[in-house]
Amino acid sequence: MKKVLITGVAGFIGSNLLDHLLSRTDWSIIGIDNLTTGSEDNISHQRNNPGFTFIKQSCNNLQSLKEFDCVFHLAALPRIQPSYELIREHVDANLMQAIHLIELMVKENHYPRFVYSGSSAIYGTPEKTPTDESAAINCMNPYAFQKYEVEKYLELIAERYPLNYVTLRYFNPYGPRSFNPKNSFNPYSSVVGIFLNKKKEGKPLLITGDGSQKRDFIHILDLTEANYKAAIHPEKLNTAFNIGNSSTLSVLELAKMISGKYEFIPKREGEADITFADISKAKKILGWEPKHILKDYIANA
Ligand SMILES: NC(=O)c1ccc[n+]([C@@H]2O[C@H](COP(=O)([O-])OP(=O)(O)OC[C@H]3O[C@@H](n4cnc5c(N)ncnc54)[C@H](O)[C@@H]3O)[C@@H](O)[C@H]2O)c1
Repeated sequence: MKKVLITGVAGFIGSNLLDHLLSRTDWSIIGIDNLTTGSEDNISHQRNNPGFTFIKQSCNNLQSLKEFDCVFHLAALPRIQPSYELIREHVDANLMQAIHLIELMVKENHYPRFVYSGSSAIYGTPEKTPTDESAAINCMNPYAFQKYEVEKYLELIAERYPLNYVTLRYFNPYGPRSFNPKNSFNPYSSVVGIFLNKKKEGKPLLITGDGSQKRDFIHILDLTEANYKAAIHPEKLNTAFNIGNSSTLSVLELAKMISGKYEFIPKREGEADITFADISKAKKILGWEPKHILKDYIANA
């Protein structure tokens, strides 16, 4: 039986990963979260599960990782626009928390499988689509740069110490809990969740720019399965994988799929024109591929 840590467990992806692992494994899971953007409501249904313990704390208060076989590092402030305003806060959440965990592994000379939640934001608007992992890095905003810095630190520190990591570059995840009504960062969360919430409120969907920007939308259950596959892979990988659906859809097309009522608002700086994943590497090495269809999710939402 593995003992694992999930950081950022009370967030959108962390709480879904928790459900996924608890339903699929007999692992003993400790989840931590400082509840900056996450909510205890996301994990309250697992409170009495004997396989899970929640601790409200920040990553940098962890003193040791010795007991863990695997660490899923998700804790972050994952929003592009706020990362321009609250720079120090974002560097702390998105970079320094990961550095603390890397330092602990080195200090303790203990190297659990470290599954890092990276982002496709590091490609910016890519020159080639579908985009594979060898594409140029083009961080268009501070958030993307911080996500990339962690990847690069993992790569560099692994040249000297036996780190055992996998970076998963998520494209645009959607699914339950992506939209948290209590979270002040909500306007910058997943567009699928924002649109579905607007529709529920009977309000028009707000499309940034002309809506021609395209996104590769990946269902949260496909993404949590990729985390599972990354954790159980028998070999040391020390590399990055794209985790997307390998399809792309414009935001305008998405809006039309959800509702007939929409309006346009000004374009936001620092956001890519297109994301579109080449996922051949994850298919080949992790034995992973997406199974869920966006249209079905929207029809049933
Ligand atoms: N949702 C996306 O569109 C997306 C896309 C690509 C990558 N990612 C990455 O996936 C990960 C999870 O994102 P999410 O969408 O679930 O975001 P989220 O905001 O829902 O979850 C992040 C969680 O981390 C917690 N947290 C923040 N700072 C912390 C700290 N110092 N210590 C402990 N907990 C802390 C927050 O309270 C929150 O619960 C992030 O690393 C993000 O960069 C997300």
